[in-house]
Amino acid sequence: MESYLKIQRQTRQEEPTEMSTKKTLHSGFAKSALVNTTTVVATSNEDGSPNMATIAWCMPCNASPVYIAIAVSNGHLTNENIKRSKVFSVNVGNLEQMKAVNAVGIVSGRKDPGKNIAFKTVNGANGAPIVAELPINMECKLVNHITNPTNTVFIGEVTLLSVDDDKVAGPNIDITRINPLLFTFGKVDGQGSAYAQLGPVVGVPWAQDPAEKLAERQAKE
Ligand SMILES: Cc1cc2nc3c(=O)[nH]c(=O)nc-3n(C[C@H](O)[C@H](O)[C@H](O)COP(=O)(O)O)c2cc1C
Repeated sequence: MESYLKIQRQTRQEEPTEMSTKKTLHSGFAKSALVNTTTVVATSNEDGSPNMATIAWCMPCNASPVYIAIAVSNGHLTNENIKRSKVFSVNVGNLEQMKAVNAVGIVSGRKDPGKNIAFKTVNGANGAPIVAELPINMECKLVNHITNPTNTVFIGEVTLLSVDDDKVAGPNIDITRINPLLFTFGKVDGQGSAYAQLGPVVGVPWAQDPAEKLAERQAKE
């Protein structure tokens, strides 16, 4: 691995430039390379009561209709509930609600159903509970799932998107008004996982000069 990286650097650069050397880490730490939005996934238990779990491994995975994928441990109650009910909601938490978001991620609803007092839920249109007090609620219908050795990737079609009024700009979500709670397994001092927050907007994607385009837009405001 080490020698392969060195060869790549030599062929990519005409002029030798200074660059940091690389370390090969245990591949298990690859999950530390990415930063995710911390969400609360709400599902219905067999008796109809709600259960919630913190799920940070969440991403869009189809553009139209919008599908989102969540990777849920095979042993979680959330996993069992989604397989049975075929519906769930993904709710985006923000910094101010960090304590409650964290609370539903510490213990399983199997061991302590009482954890679910952290949030009030209401029934969504598709039957899955939604956490209306969180600013973004996505009601999802299960379209597919992939069983991996430790986690199941559930792919849900977003059938209804509800967003707090004051977090909407035009027809879209203004994510900077939400202050989403971010999560990563990679932390600067190597001590473990961390919650973090979004920094300032720095550019406009797909523009030829992202920073210049942003300055242009801001000058117009
Ligand atoms: C910040 C944070 C992020 C988490 N992300 C995930 C995740 O992406 N996937 C997962 O399976 N568990 C994740 N968990 C763990 C579950 O939330 C936790 O095990 C929970 O107790 C499962 O509850 P359940 O058995 O009631 O479904 C996370 C926990 C925390 C605190």
